[in-house]
Amino acid sequence: MKGTIIRNATVVNEARTFTADVFVQDGRIAEVSERGISGLRDVNEVEASGLHLMPGVIDDQVHFREPGLTHKEDIAHASAAAAAGGVTSYMEMPNTVPNTLDRVLLEQKYDLAAACSVVNYSFYMGVSNTNLEEVLYVDPRMVCGLKAFLGSSTGNMLVDDPDALTGLFSKAHMILAIHAEDEATVQANTRAAQDRWGDAIPMEQHPLIRSAEACYRSSSNAVALAREHGTRLHVLHISTARELELFSPGSLDGKRITAEACIHHLWFTDEAYATKGSLIKWNPAVKTQADREAIRQAVKDGRIDVVATDHAPHTLEEKSRPYMQCPSGGPLVQHSLVAMLELVRQGVFTLEEVVHKLSHAPARMFDITGRGAIKEGYQADLVMVDLNAPWTVEQGNILSKCGWSPFEGQQFSARVIKTWVNGELAYSDGAVDRTVRVSDSTDETLCTSSLGSDPGLWGTGGTRG
Ligand code: DOR
Repeated sequence: MKGTIIRNATVVNEARTFTADVFVQDGRIAEVSERGISGLRDVNEVEASGLHLMPGVIDDQVHFREPGLTHKEDIAHASAAAAAGGVTSYMEMPNTVPNTLDRVLLEQKYDLAAACSVVNYSFYMGVSNTNLEEVLYVDPRMVCGLKAFLGSSTGNMLVDDPDALTGLFSKAHMILAIHAEDEATVQANTRAAQDRWGDAIPMEQHPLIRSAEACYRSSSNAVALAREHGTRLHVLHISTARELELFSPGSLDGKRITAEACIHHLWFTDEAYATKGSLIKWNPAVKTQADREAIRQAVKDGRIDVVATDHAPHTLEEKSRPYMQCPSGGPLVQHSLVAMLELVRQGVFTLEEVVHKLSHAPARMFDITGRGAIKEGYQADLVMVDLNAPWTVEQGNILSKCGWSPFEGQQFSARVIKTWVNGELAYSDGAVDRTVRVSDSTDETLCTSSLGSDPGLWGTGGTRG
């Protein structure tokens, strides 16, 4: 492959912002030079004066709906949306149909992604009340982690049997990511809302039904179990201020219990139900402004370790149903980076914090070697952005198959200009190159997806043995 030199880029990497030339060859970052690179012949030249270059985003929570729910989303559309949003790697959830509860189904997902994903991928192994034996057979190098729903959401993948939970927390042999909402509390709140409102429960009730109490009960219980058993626990999509007391500030070093925040909980508050209605109905629910401010602060001080999307599309028809029939979730993978950059503009985060939470930290957390930073020898997963090129989210520029976004009408100041995946230009100036295939890579070891240090098989559909 012809090399590419990205000239005069403002590189944001490892807590520094500096001007440099970056040379990409054979899928990897060959050189990063603040003095400039000269003497190269027969390379593609990309002028990046005035533009920022960051490591590609690594999203540790997406629902790409394949197999079984492809009327909502599929890997081809969602990975294209990811590339357009500067997301170069994703970790996908098991609440597809059928649920990813055994190794055969897991293998099928890797095959599906190998055939059409334009960005790197890994898949979680799902946990149920009854599949622990199968879970323990999964090679940690094959998957990014285990996923257990401790409260049911789309797909009713619930782990609620106390013995199953003890078995899982005591034996999990890799990172255990959880959805934490207490099922009994949610059920009781739902019944109370139905008694009061009948079939016409207002969307504004969602954060009171999927309440802060439900979140705290479940996440504190999970953290207690993890402490008891030494589990490597990762609590997904923290949505309340109170839960933050469960996590430690500071770097990832030595942490056995980590937390994730999602874009919607960092952006919206319960005031938005009045205008956005079901388009911001997520589980866990978007809560109060005080919750949002506390989560933002926790991203800054390290109680929240990574930021992700929980990209979870449903069709507009499904989202227009009454509360009880309306599924939770929405598409976000195309807009996570630009939304975070908007929060930089608003003074909430720094550029370096955004790069840390979206790229460096997920790479470290999931032991993904050779990705998540702009360093010589690393895979060239890169995103180039113009921080001053305003544009508006509208139906015509949404790539998710569902065709809508909770951000419709929102103007973002930053625009993704180009995204490289393994050195290949997957997105450039408004167009996704849908012929890019991660599985075409001849590289043996793209990264590891486990907590171990063995060469993993993540996103290398073509090289799995
Ligand atoms: O709102 C949500 N939707 N939260 C989840 O955890 C699942 C997701 C989905 O799959 O629709």
